Amino acid sequence: MRFNVSLRMRLTFSVIVLLIAQVMLVLFVIQRQEVSAVFEEQKSKAVLLANNIIQENLQPFILWDDEGVKQNIEDRLDENLVYVIFYDRFNRPFVSNDFIVDYEDTFQFSNLEQDAILGDFLVGPKQLTDATGNMTLEILEIEMPVFAKEDPTRWGSVKIGLSMEETQREVRETRTLLFLIGFVSLLGGILGATWLAKRITTPIEKLVNGTKHISRGEFDLKIDINSKDEIGNLAVNFNDMSHQLQLLRKRMEEANKRLVQVEKLASIGHISTGIAHEIRNPLTSVKLNIQKLSEKKDLDEYDRSSLEISQEAIAQIEKFIKELLNFARVPKLNLDWFSVEQIVDGSLKMIAETMELKKVRLEKEYQEGLPQVQVDADKIRQVILNILQNSCEAVDEGGTILIALSQGQNPSGDFVRVMISDDGKGIPARDWENVFEPFYTTKSSGIGLGLAIARRILEQHHGSIRVKENPGWGTSFEIILTCEGEE
Ligand SMILES: Nc1ncnc2c1ncn2[C@@H]1O[C@H](COP(=O)(O)OP(=O)(O)O)[C@@H](O)[C@H]1O
Ligand SMILES: [Mg+2]
Repeated sequence: MRFNVSLRMRLTFSVIVLLIAQVMLVLFVIQRQEVSAVFEEQKSKAVLLANNIIQENLQPFILWDDEGVKQNIEDRLDENLVYVIFYDRFNRPFVSNDFIVDYEDTFQFSNLEQDAILGDFLVGPKQLTDATGNMTLEILEIEMPVFAKEDPTRWGSVKIGLSMEETQREVRETRTLLFLIGFVSLLGGILGATWLAKRITTPIEKLVNGTKHISRGEFDLKIDINSKDEIGNLAVNFNDMSHQLQLLRKRMEEANKRLVQVEKLASIGHISTGIAHEIRNPLTSVKLNIQKLSEKKDLDEYDRSSLEISQEAIAQIEKFIKELLNFARVPKLNLDWFSVEQIVDGSLKMIAETMELKKVRLEKEYQEGLPQVQVDADKIRQVILNILQNSCEAVDEGGTILIALSQGQNPSGDFVRVMISDDGKGIPARDWENVFEPFYTTKSSGIGLGLAIARRILEQHHGSIRVKENPGWGTSFEIILTCEGEE
């Protein structure tokens, strides 16, 4: 997980850092522009005000009516206009409000050049500090020359100081607002970045997880990423790949199983043939001698029954040898086209007597118009007979056997399905495959070759046999016979 976390972290971190830088830059630029705009506005206000004051006081100023000017100034003052000072043409203070007189630096000197003309002015920020040095006032100071209308004579100048408190409050408010906007957008940005990083890395994490499963040999994991982008494509390809791997492994396992089976059957066949031959000759002589003995006239009852038991045992051994040899031989198929109904009915005829003895009820469900199949009829008849024999052995007296024939289709073509079901004791699901193993039997006198032979014959025919779930029945065998002939 180390890689994933760090990828997500890296992504989140980079986006956030970029975002912070960007927001800070933007805010800084906006702030500067805002401040200078406010300052410019304040400046033009100041120029206007200074002009007004000059116009208002021109008459008394020219007449040196300091009382009148002072009165006007005092009337004008408010919390914004902190001071007004008129200077005479020699730059000496002429009249001002009382407050400013104490601030000598400001009061005593006009900063304007002697040759200033109409329209010139000086403007700039200034700090008024009182004698104790504690109270400081931020001021915007403007100074301009005083001219009478259509008169080139410069009568003096006026200097006014405007409090910057209001402006600074405005600037502070703007800054707070900008900071808030920045903070909110940063917060949104961080959330967005986290979400985005998660969105990008989650599918990658899923893919990484998928590769881990694959490397452990678990091919059944499906990655669910539905996005229509490169990652989505990757997931689709990945799922495809694991599906193919899964198929491949299944096929390999099947091939392997078949190989083992074939080899097992071959060695069983080899050994059985040897044993059967070794037993057969001495058995024949034992059988003949017992035969001879039993033909004697002077046998008592006890001897006779002993000989009969021996004969039965010999018959059992002979049957076993016959089946063994039958199993060991892999005969060549004698193929021809047959209808499945005919073959099944042939097997039924062969077992009719047994069924009658056990009062077995037979049900038939044959689909109409079944295609013919190319098979070795004797062999398939033997297969069906084996299964019917098992069913007869499995059901109680008066039991039921159902034979259903139907047609089906799979990717490799048409097939005929033979289902043989009985209401006998059934086979536990865990043994559904075992019953096809050679010598697997649960019967005291069973050999366990019937189903093994059946499966081998069907595989030779490219067909199949298996136990199938069939509710309401004890056991159900499904046989598939393909309709594709051999060329
Ligand atoms: N119709 C059936 N109902 C119940 N069990 C069955 C049925 N068919 C086969 N089996 C089980 O499969 C085993 C193997 O059958 P088979 O190969 O014919 O050998 P055998 O009949 O000699 O035992 C049987 O011993 C039995 O346990
Ligand atoms: Mg059997």
